[in-house]
Amino acid sequence: MNPRHFAVALLISFFSFASLNAGTVWIDELNLTTVEQEGGAPVKKLALGGHALTIAGQTFARGYSTHAESWLAIQLDGQARTFSAKVGIDDEVKGKPGGSVEFVVLVDGQKLWSSGLMRTGDAAKPCDVPLAKVKLLELVVTDGEDNNYYDHADWVDAKIESAGPSTFATVARAVSEPYILTPAPPASPRINGARVFGVRPGSPFLFTVPASGQRPMTFSATGLPAGLELDAMTGRITGRLTNPGTYAVILRAGNAAGRTESPLRIVCGDQIALTPPMGWNSWNCFAQEVSADKVKRAADTMVRTGLINHGWTYINVDDFWQNHRASKDPTLTGEVRDAQGNIRPNSRFGDMKALADYIHNLGLKAGLYSSPGPWTCGGCAGSYGHELQDAQAYAGWGFDYLKYDWCSYGGLTLGLAASDPKLPSVEWGKGTSNVDLAQKPYRLMGEYLRQQPRDIVYSLCQYGMSDVWLWGGSVAGNSWRTTNDISGNWKSMRNIILAQDIPAPWAKPGNWNDPDMLILGYIGWGNPKPTRLTPDEQYLHFSLWCLFSAPLLIGCDMEKLDAFTLGLLTNDEVIALDQDPLGQQARCVDTVGDVRVYSKKLEDGSVAVGFCNFGARPAELKYANLAGLRLAGRQQVRDIWRQKVVGTVTIGREAWPLVIPTHGIVLLKFTAVPAPIP
Ligand code: GAL
Repeated sequence: MNPRHFAVALLISFFSFASLNAGTVWIDELNLTTVEQEGGAPVKKLALGGHALTIAGQTFARGYSTHAESWLAIQLDGQARTFSAKVGIDDEVKGKPGGSVEFVVLVDGQKLWSSGLMRTGDAAKPCDVPLAKVKLLELVVTDGEDNNYYDHADWVDAKIESAGPSTFATVARAVSEPYILTPAPPASPRINGARVFGVRPGSPFLFTVPASGQRPMTFSATGLPAGLELDAMTGRITGRLTNPGTYAVILRAGNAAGRTESPLRIVCGDQIALTPPMGWNSWNCFAQEVSADKVKRAADTMVRTGLINHGWTYINVDDFWQNHRASKDPTLTGEVRDAQGNIRPNSRFGDMKALADYIHNLGLKAGLYSSPGPWTCGGCAGSYGHELQDAQAYAGWGFDYLKYDWCSYGGLTLGLAASDPKLPSVEWGKGTSNVDLAQKPYRLMGEYLRQQPRDIVYSLCQYGMSDVWLWGGSVAGNSWRTTNDISGNWKSMRNIILAQDIPAPWAKPGNWNDPDMLILGYIGWGNPKPTRLTPDEQYLHFSLWCLFSAPLLIGCDMEKLDAFTLGLLTNDEVIALDQDPLGQQARCVDTVGDVRVYSKKLEDGSVAVGFCNFGARPAELKYANLAGLRLAGRQQVRDIWRQKVVGTVTIGREAWPLVIPTHGIVLLKFTAVPAPIP
């Protein structure tokens, strides 16, 4: 065959191949690894839990199941005719609370079809969308504007009718490049973190001086009260104080590159957690997959990465250290309590004291989780009826922090018996509007924790019910969640941010509003993947949590920390906002279009201001209302992330220019410039 004939033959065979295969392209035949969804991965031809795809009793052989919030994009390049599917929540979550979603179809960025709000049990809704000339098809599932609990969403019989190709490429979302703002800390020593530390008389004392800089480093202190000792090599202060009082200590650190000193106020009295706790919690990355080994590795990493040198302290085990009420997983089965009623850890944990010792030996502190009902949210053993025994067990093992949930207690307030096998484990934010009933389990555990011979930070996790910020401190709580759980996306975070203005005035040293754990780094509730927040959203997230004086709990797989995430977590000037001894939570004091202005007064009289852009486009403005920040006169302006002065401004006379990225923040500190001496 001459070359010309060969080329023609090739062309013909290509066309006949394409036309042979033109027709129906099933979505479950495409590469779905590009799907973005909350936790886990989409499942083809089955529901997420592995059952047949089933909507309101009707089963389907084809399609895919995903978890809201979910996004799939398919490149069509004008080659498709129609998209059709049926949609609904899978029956596998029937009887579980909270299943509600909206299915949305976007073509070339425009919303062309929506299912409207759908709940568990609703019959499958048909969806038919014309696609002529369309370049990009997007299939979206939202959380129905509540939360995404049990939002198992099925696109069944989902297919594209095509004139041309036999398959289509799915596309991954364009990611914006991470950029690091935090300057590398100098080789010379720098003492970071809290400048005030509370302890109760008689409690074991552990404070590791957080100091960045080259090792080896040596430590010393003046003004340490009798009963405390500082280890010169590790920088750990240990011992016990018997007398209440405030002690002004000067901490010193030195290495081959220099020396530094910094004040620390030790307050021995009734109140602990005088600054918001900082640490790590297992839930947002490992959830039910947690084990003692993973927790130890997280603790090791806290030290190895140097996070400990920036004030990060607690290593907190969340749910699933106990045995489960019904799991078939052999590592979670077994007696939940022994014959004397003592709680038994599951076989993944075994010796809890050994775990707490391991963490303490690294200079860190250890945290644990339980629930006031008989079952935790995950269905493991809770503390109901064994509160004192449990408080004693935690203290005996050496734990320093308790997160106390609400799950299965709501059922008790509604009249179900603790022994009722139908008592639901999961009931986020459900139960009682009666404040006395809402307080009861927290007051009880609070009293028992206070009776223990060690300080245990008490973190209430009842999602803000009965305005917990009004009474959380009176039941001995050191912090309280203000909302339902955070999930790994912008919308969830934004809704939580917008809910912080109401509780803000109640935050103070020892009593903190908790907007939930951080969603930076690799997160995913058992299947960790990089956070879906953009770099700008991550800057906004960490900045606002610090402005909010929030407990800072890293939620990611510590072993997968990258340079960008470490940059976010080690900016000492940003962390200093969170740890400021005044403990005033920032409030939104102004809005300009989509920009919300958060201001936080600091102990030294300066004011930190976060200009947050909630809009879908970058915002450029000259911000004139500086007087609204309750500032006066000439002010020095410092860019907190970049750790440098960027100018001065006279309030009332000048405006400040701002360029704020989409969903991003500009974080500034205003400090009065002393008037010149005449
Ligand atoms: C939820 C809580 C989560 C996690 C989970 C464990 O109620 O808000 O943060 O602790 O329970 O099952």
